[in-house]
Amino acid sequence: MAENLRFDGRVVIVTGAGGGLGRSHALFFGSRGASVVVNDLGASHTGEGASSRAADVVVEEIRAAGGKAVANYDSVLDGDKIVETAMKAFGRLDIVINNAGILKDVSFARMTDEQWKLIFQVHVDGAYKVLKAAWPIFRQQKFGRIINTTSAAGIYGNFGQANYSAAKLALVGLTKTLALEGKKDNIHSNVIAPMAASRMTETVLPPDMLASLKPEMVTPLVAYLCHENTTENGSLFEVGAGFIGKLRWERTGGYGFPIDQTLQPEDVKAKWAEITNFEDGRATHPESTQESMESIMANFENKSKL
Ligand SMILES: NC(=O)c1ccc[n+]([C@@H]2O[C@H](COP(=O)([O-])OP(=O)(O)OC[C@H]3O[C@@H](n4cnc5c(N)ncnc54)[C@H](O)[C@@H]3O)[C@@H](O)[C@H]2O)c1
Repeated sequence: MAENLRFDGRVVIVTGAGGGLGRSHALFFGSRGASVVVNDLGASHTGEGASSRAADVVVEEIRAAGGKAVANYDSVLDGDKIVETAMKAFGRLDIVINNAGILKDVSFARMTDEQWKLIFQVHVDGAYKVLKAAWPIFRQQKFGRIINTTSAAGIYGNFGQANYSAAKLALVGLTKTLALEGKKDNIHSNVIAPMAASRMTETVLPPDMLASLKPEMVTPLVAYLCHENTTENGSLFEVGAGFIGKLRWERTGGYGFPIDQTLQPEDVKAKWAEITNFEDGRATHPESTQESMESIMANFENKSKL
């Protein structure tokens, strides 16, 4: 058996840690030596109401097991206050797990501006506010680990979740840019698309499926990615029921039209099979905007032979 990965001396913020996945993350870090800020507003899964109870219960659980934890009841929209709680209670901050989230599911046709905005506020602005306050601390100490939480709904789209899927994919872009900007200061950012039984999924998934989707099967990936010796940075993972896989973009070999001729929709139509063919052995997996631009720049030289 390999030696346990420990987090002694590390301070972790887990947002939305009063239940579901966040609770599981918080309990685990608490059990491996970290000091945990258990943040939860204690709202319903659609964002209504507030109660300190959710966070308190998890703090009690961590302490009862011999761990160190404090509660924070602020909304992630006041992310600076959550970071302040960590600094006041423990004097440092090493890891941020942006996990808090709500749903406002409704078809796009019926969606109100309010339902759109609220989802962006909690998922995108909330993650931003916590990270913005944590970032200078991470930079100064030359260490930081960030996990953001996206969703398959964001990656693939999901009926009735235009607001949620748009906001969730925003977190992938945020993660990838922070990975680039944080790298030189040993700040690593990764993003997970989990699948787990929680009050968020209990009404949409059948009971037998829920029984196999334990949040505890998601947390070990989060913990591994946040360990001081883990170098993974800027990556996206799907994780649930014991399955863990990494995702990347794939682009077809495409087709380059001559740059010195007018391009018409009819030309696009004529080459559609090549533009969309992933199976001809020419598909690539660009990992940066630079790599992505290479094919476009190579086409600068694609002149028609008159
Ligand atoms: N469960 C899944 O299968 C699944 C799938 C994809 C993505 N996710 C994402 O995982 C995360 C955790 O979800 P979960 O399934 O554990 O749901 P959950 O509802 O059990 O947990 C979310 C927690 O966030 C808290 N919260 C909501 N708004 C908050 C705010 N403004 N400030 C602070 N806390 C707030 C809630 O009180 C709740 O305890 C969410 O970001 C969710 O979108 C979950």
